[in-house]
Amino acid sequence: MKLSGFSRQRTALCAALQGLCAALLVFIATAASAQSAGTAHILVRADQPQAKIHPHVYGHFAEHLGRLIYDGIWVGEDSPIPNTRGIRNDVLEALKALKVPVLRWPGGCFADEYHWRDGIGPRDQRPRRVNSSWGGVDTNAFGTHEFMDLAELIGADAYININVGTGSTQEMMEWIEYMTSDSDSTLANLRRENGRDKPWKVAYVGIGNEMWGCGGNMAPEQWAGEYRKFATFVKQHSDTKLQRIAAGPTDSRYDWTEALMSSSAKHMEALSLHYYTLPTGDWTNKKGSATQFGEDQWFSTLARTLEMEEYVRTHSAIMDKYDPEKKIGLMVAEWGTWYDPEPGKDQGALYQQNTVRDAVVAGINLNIFNRHTDRVRMANIAQMVNVLQAVILTEGDKMILTPTYHVFDMYKVHQGATALPVEVQAPEYSFGESSLPGVSASASRDDKGVLHVSLVNLDPNRRVPLTLELRGASAGRVSGEVLTGATMNAMNTFERPDTVRPAPFKGVRRSGKDVVVDLPPRAVVMLRIEP
Ligand code: AHR
Repeated sequence: MKLSGFSRQRTALCAALQGLCAALLVFIATAASAQSAGTAHILVRADQPQAKIHPHVYGHFAEHLGRLIYDGIWVGEDSPIPNTRGIRNDVLEALKALKVPVLRWPGGCFADEYHWRDGIGPRDQRPRRVNSSWGGVDTNAFGTHEFMDLAELIGADAYININVGTGSTQEMMEWIEYMTSDSDSTLANLRRENGRDKPWKVAYVGIGNEMWGCGGNMAPEQWAGEYRKFATFVKQHSDTKLQRIAAGPTDSRYDWTEALMSSSAKHMEALSLHYYTLPTGDWTNKKGSATQFGEDQWFSTLARTLEMEEYVRTHSAIMDKYDPEKKIGLMVAEWGTWYDPEPGKDQGALYQQNTVRDAVVAGINLNIFNRHTDRVRMANIAQMVNVLQAVILTEGDKMILTPTYHVFDMYKVHQGATALPVEVQAPEYSFGESSLPGVSASASRDDKGVLHVSLVNLDPNRRVPLTLELRGASAGRVSGEVLTGATMNAMNTFERPDTVRPAPFKGVRRSGKDVVVDLPPRAVVMLRIEP
């Protein structure tokens, strides 16, 4: 390709001043192209505080799949990559900064073929097993001790998904005893022999996974019966009550929620929901590319993301019939984008790049969870490193943070804060004959009285000027952070890791009692409003 003199200079300058240049390009693209889509009005009901946003809504999922566990997290103690007891330090530091509240492991479909005894004891004596769900051979170097070490190092609660498909109630009981008993039993002593004296705190046990598919191709009533049997044998060994999460529905499979809630509600503390966003909705290898897409697939991806609200609302309504006091949580245990595999990469590894579109998808989903805090007590993005909508990508000793990572980082202020209802009136985002709500929002108040309002502009081309009215609160100092990119598919690469990253947001100011915002196109914004 022949470059003009200007392009050559610009390329050289970009290489030298990568972050600065990316920010400049975003600014120029935004300022030049962004017509206003019309004005919006958002009312924040600080006078109607709701329940606290459960921190676990910002949870993650790590399965033995592709390069997630091996490479992405585990490199082994002898690796030249700096590590803590085998876990790579760069990833550890990035996860600590994110305040990961809960981590689900070891699957997914893989959980139904995982036998915990394979992953304890001296590593050089552990069996090597074919990973029949996702390919390759698992060395079992990363087992229970390594996972619990990771969870403790990053300060996350452990969510252990047990094996129903090829396991038994006995195997489940023994694993729970091994991990959580402080007694003088043979299993507790085996844990001690393997290097862990005190029992671990395990917060959640997931029973089953996708029972209509890889979990056993069952019918809903059949699973409900089998679930009760497993749930009965989850024994408590400590004061920290182990919460049982029943494998539940995916997207609109409402019959699964009905079957489980009508027969088994008193045997569970939570029910899981899975929902993935595919640009085309087609599960064959025509899901759509992670990086090569036009506005048609930008639009369809966001339209499908918004369906999450419908699923959460309808499953919650079914749960309300059997659990009107809302004691049982709805855990969105797998969510995120799922694209066609990257050309040239291992096709079974589910590795995909992550762009500004993924940041917008994350912002919309997290806003939905924040608005349903009465029922949604956990959500786990799929998945943490190198798989699907990952927050971190690694290549050898290099690591990059994706746009989705930055959204989780910006949104972490919502963890544990009091949810506040928002009423959004915004211009629609139209494409062709169809349109979507143009702005997604959620709000919370932290224990110092600071309001955080997260805003997403779904329109990739037009800015939205908006007025934020606060009812029951007043605005003192206002500030914010913005995440956007020069194009819909702007991304971070190993060569240019900071192309998409949060920047201070200049488009916010106070105006009388209100806050006035100029929301850039294709952007996620977090506002901080001090009292
Ligand atoms: O996240 C990848 C897979 O998606 C999980 O193993 C399974 O539960 C779901 O179908």
